[in-house]
Amino acid sequence: MMTGLRTLALAAAFAVAAGALCAQTQSGLRGGTPLDTEGQAARMTPMRNTTEKEIRNYPEQPPLIPHSIESYQVDLNGNKCLSCHARARTGESQAPMLSITHFMDRDGQFLASVSPRRFFCTQCHVPQHDVKPPVTNDFTDIDTLLSRTQPGGRR
Ligand code: HEC
Ligand code: HEC
Repeated sequence: MMTGLRTLALAAAFAVAAGALCAQTQSGLRGGTPLDTEGQAARMTPMRNTTEKEIRNYPEQPPLIPHSIESYQVDLNGNKCLSCHARARTGESQAPMLSITHFMDRDGQFLASVSPRRFFCTQCHVPQHDVKPPVTNDFTDIDTLLSRTQPGGRR
């Protein structure tokens, strides 16, 4: 009798879990692809290529890259980004100089050139593509949060 009940409870638990798994395959990045199969990769979309600054969503955000970085090399042999963003190159390129924080080592000492910690630019800075977000999110920026505490503030 007890084992019968336990089996029943287990079966019910599995049914719920299976239901949850099925539900997961209905939305999100996988689309309708079942979990045990590999879906078709989404098509590549072109990188946005503008000169317009994107608003930062919070003060510490690494600014987004407004221009395309298609085929820009950043590796042991070279850094294409620095050919425009390095201090000495900005007159010619009219690019903003990379931030002074990028010259700081982990002990807070300023180095004469870019800190190795900041060499791989795309670790933090990313270009943009015109795509519909595959999953929704409810990120709220700090100005909106602060405004909520004020009477009649933004929602
Ligand atoms: C050919 C020159 C050139 C190269 C190479 C280049 N950039 Fe830029 N970048 C610019 C210019 C100029 C701007 C200013 C906006 C504009 O005119 O497109 C800019 C803007 C930016 C900004 C926006 C800064 C802000 O305050 O909003 C970021 C971030 C950036 N670039 C990162 C990179 C990274 C990372 C790479 C390498 C993967 C790179 N750039 C390569 C010229 C360049
Ligand atoms: C570890 C993360 C990180 C890496 C790696 C990094 N950055 Fe940044 N970058 C930031 C952050 C955060 C900011 C904004 C805060 C600041 O100024 O430090 C910034 C700011 C900038 C700005 C804007 C400066 C301004 O005054 O408007 C430029 C341009 C830039 N970075 C270029 C680069 C380039 C080029 C590289 C590679 C050589 C690079 N960054 C590597 C995080 C990073």
